[in-house]
Amino acid sequence: PRDIFVSELMAKMTIEEKIGQLNLPTSGDITTGQANSSNVAKNIEQGKVGGLFNIKSLQKIKEVQKIAVEKCRLKIPLLFGMDVIHGYETTFPIPLGLSCTWDMNLIKRSAQIAAQEATADGINWTFSPMVDISRDPRWGRVSEGSGEDAYLGSQIAKAMVTGYQGDDLAKNNTLLSCVKHFALYGAPEGGREYNTVDMSRIRMYNEYFPPYKAAIDAGVGSLMASFNEVDGIPATANKWLMTDVLRKQWGFKGFVVTDYTAIMEMEYHGIGDLQTVSALALKAGIEMDMVSDGFLNTLKKSLDEGKVTRQEIDNAVRLILNAKYDLGLFHDPYRYCDEKRAKTEIFTTSNRNEARKIAAQSLVLLKNENQLLPLKKSGTIAVIGPLADAKENMAGTWSVATKQENSISLVAGIKSVVGTSAKVLYAKGSNLDYDEQLEERATMFGKTLNRDKRSKEELMAEALKIANQSDVIIAALGESAEFSGECSSRTAITIPQAQKDLLVALQKTGKPVVLTLFNGRPLDLTDENATVPAILEVWFAGSEAGYAIADVLFGNENPSGKLTMTFPRTIGQIPIYYNAKNTGRPLGNTEGKFEKFKTNYIDERNEPLFPFGFGLSYTTFTYGNLSISSNTMTASETIKVSVPVTNSGNYDGKEVVQLYIRDVVGSVTRPIKELKGFQKIDFKKGETKTVTFDISVEDLKFYNSDLQFVAEPGKFEVFIGTNSDTTSKIAFELMN
Ligand code: IFM
Repeated sequence: PRDIFVSELMAKMTIEEKIGQLNLPTSGDITTGQANSSNVAKNIEQGKVGGLFNIKSLQKIKEVQKIAVEKCRLKIPLLFGMDVIHGYETTFPIPLGLSCTWDMNLIKRSAQIAAQEATADGINWTFSPMVDISRDPRWGRVSEGSGEDAYLGSQIAKAMVTGYQGDDLAKNNTLLSCVKHFALYGAPEGGREYNTVDMSRIRMYNEYFPPYKAAIDAGVGSLMASFNEVDGIPATANKWLMTDVLRKQWGFKGFVVTDYTAIMEMEYHGIGDLQTVSALALKAGIEMDMVSDGFLNTLKKSLDEGKVTRQEIDNAVRLILNAKYDLGLFHDPYRYCDEKRAKTEIFTTSNRNEARKIAAQSLVLLKNENQLLPLKKSGTIAVIGPLADAKENMAGTWSVATKQENSISLVAGIKSVVGTSAKVLYAKGSNLDYDEQLEERATMFGKTLNRDKRSKEELMAEALKIANQSDVIIAALGESAEFSGECSSRTAITIPQAQKDLLVALQKTGKPVVLTLFNGRPLDLTDENATVPAILEVWFAGSEAGYAIADVLFGNENPSGKLTMTFPRTIGQIPIYYNAKNTGRPLGNTEGKFEKFKTNYIDERNEPLFPFGFGLSYTTFTYGNLSISSNTMTASETIKVSVPVTNSGNYDGKEVVQLYIRDVVGSVTRPIKELKGFQKIDFKKGETKTVTFDISVEDLKFYNSDLQFVAEPGKFEVFIGTNSDTTSKIAFELMN
């Protein structure tokens, strides 16, 4: 029925109306009750708009949809997109934090709640998930991805897509998902936003493509092209990428939208004027033009001049109309405009409670000397730092729908969790940095940290005064939300100097210091790790951040998060990632000793500060010996690898048991280990469980130099452990 419906509709459409469906302009500001006089109203009436994005408010969306379905000749409803990236008003941790839960059910649940809330407010399309693999923490958008690993990234891509889309897009609480940014957006040279990407195809297929493909296999309905070039051609005009890989190899059936003004930007890339690049984009396989007006203003001319074909335009229109049909918009254009739902389903207590639980699981305990944590809910607690009372910074980057004033700051969370049994004191201690310009640049687009006008000495004195009165100091330091996210690349990934100085001064009081670290990327924590007894990585944990952090600090929750990006010792190690190649001159020792003519540095050891998969708990887990069901397997067999794991500490807790595989000999060089399985398991205090993983031939496959996905017979090593570095090993052979 969809094909017939869409064909019949297309038969009625003029070429201008068809091109209009391919256009996704900005809405500009729409005042409630005034949609008819908005900038885009006339274009909608004339059938020149296929959808709009980032309009927040059911009322406004309803008014705009009314123009489309009442004043426009063919009454084709609009798509309403939004960057619903990590929740809607109920906001979850930034995606990098969410990935550290390693819990696919929780991640999926976060997407379901986001879909529930966004669709209750008129939105039917989200520009999420972002699945770009990145190994460069200088790049600000690592905060929006799931880290450095293609296997984990693929599981998360699937969880997000199925969470948003559910099993039926036409339900009024499911959202059309848009996987982005295809492709390789996370690999810009030097970590500088929008910079050139250059990568071998074998690396693309093995290390960067899998999460995009996983989203497609999970049925994602749309995809966003990346800003960068791939193999010398901008992704937005890259036919190999958008047609050969995406459609022919992977069978993608949805539509492709550009990123913001990406068609127009190809003029700056230097591949032609607006008419040329618009035609190139359409021919490459792009269906929707976000904001460039390139399709709208040039495609008809290109058609008349024979530079694009009617068939190419029709193909694109069909895919957009298919999506509208699948969303149920032709049946009911107001399907996502239910005032009752808008009043009762957004930022509910139950959604917030779930967000609080999920946020607690995203926190990663990096250090806990002498079991300083969990803290007692008694005595006097000083909470100090520019991020301590900063509710506007809890949700993190890309939280378009969040009402920042409703977020829970760390001080508020601690006060609520400790109640009247402890005294909580607060001081700001310092501004984000001494460098006002840095703060200003970071916050040009988003939230600010309300720079304190007092001198650094005054701020410090106030902090030291309460520090000296306290039993323990919780330092809330790091980056503000907008230090990461789009166009927030950094060349230094340390805690800004003003806060480093504050931390040193706090430690000099002799009081125990817990560092709660707010940041959207791995930081170089070498100095802090050397001196601070406890470090809790809290990312930007969402609207309930303060509660969730306090739950962990005071032991209501036992931390279980594990890093999904390597934390370097120094910026000079970047790119640094666990699944590296061995090289022809591997370093033999693991003590960090320099060896001449081996792959290492003269001034720093090779290992990171905290490896991929790392994260402590208040309890301890002891791993026993690995066992394997067989030392050989054929392609049609499955073998089992098991390990007994014991909760050997004093608390109940969760452990992410990780399985890595190394293909010892291959037709191409293979990584020293690759994640191929993980299980997050609850352990009661003292409990032992045998954890078993199945290994099938699918886990052994990779893309060879002909880009064929194959498993090659020979020896494989299996590693199981608590992080990518601390593992035990066993081997088997894949037989011919
Ligand atoms: O979805 C985003 C994208 O990730 C970056 N550029 C703007 C888009 C729409 O807001």
